[in-house]
Amino acid sequence: MAENIFNLQNAGFSYRAESLLFTDLNLSIEAGESICLLGANGSGKSSLLKILCALNYIEIGSFKAFGYEISEKQMENDNFCKDYYRRVGFVFQNSDAQLFTTRVWDEIAFGPLQMDFPRKEIQNRVNDIIKVLQIEHLANRPPFRLSGGEKKKVALASILVLNPEVIILDEPTAGLDPRSQNWLVDLLLQLNSVGRTIIVATHDLNLAHTLTKRTLLLSEEHKVVYDGDTQESLRNTDLLMKVNLIDQFTHIHEQFKHLHIYVHC
Ligand SMILES: Nc1ncnc2c1ncn2[C@@H]1O[C@H](COP(=O)(O)OP(=O)(O)OP(=O)(O)O)[C@@H](O)[C@H]1O
Ligand SMILES: [Mg+2]
Repeated sequence: MAENIFNLQNAGFSYRAESLLFTDLNLSIEAGESICLLGANGSGKSSLLKILCALNYIEIGSFKAFGYEISEKQMENDNFCKDYYRRVGFVFQNSDAQLFTTRVWDEIAFGPLQMDFPRKEIQNRVNDIIKVLQIEHLANRPPFRLSGGEKKKVALASILVLNPEVIILDEPTAGLDPRSQNWLVDLLLQLNSVGRTIIVATHDLNLAHTLTKRTLLLSEEHKVVYDGDTQESLRNTDLLMKVNLIDQFTHIHEQFKHLHIYVHC
């Protein structure tokens, strides 16, 4: 039986004391799954990913990761925290929130340094991942001077260098050109095929279709309104329209009135 990685039970979370963003959130994720989290702007995708990454803490209910109850207090335990971020890698929606050193090479080496890996191993890991992500030409450049897509690749490298069991990516294809998008999907599919758990938040239905088997659909009221097979969810146009992932509009073209489906990505 696959290991249970994340388990949320009757969880509630808020940013502001007066109103809960999530109420009664229930979710179970097993090792080796490929999951996409779909929802309109503001539906709570990033907030939910941050709960899984122990960057947001629930206030009601229970959140367990790898069988351990996760709380702010638990994450203050240095060894536990290091182990957690060795196992769970998170690529932020906004790369600028992730990159902070003055050289790409140092950025990628930061995680392994924090994990106290031997110096030689750090060098090997960093050089290997730079090669895999084909970013040798960026190695000596300051991350803040890179293009959006280049920053995203560096952010991804800084996570993959630790070879985490769970890879969580927030809008990974946003801002990437078509070749880079395909390359990223191939890379994530390969990682999933060797047992890594992949969780992505996206508006990109194409990414959901090619990469993931399971979809969680968040409504604009921050509720999980679908949890099941990805292909089935993508065929459910009524549901996708209801949660504002696709839209339809009429438009007059020559003498005909057409109904178009607009995909939000
Ligand atoms: N740090 C924060 N403090 C207060 N409110 C926040 C914070 N982060 C997000 N929110 C609010 O929580 C709600 C969900 O935001 P979240 O970023 O999780 O949505 P999202 O589904 O990721 O949206 P998008 O598709 O635009 O990335 C929004 O109403 C947002 O304004
Ligand atoms: Mg978001």
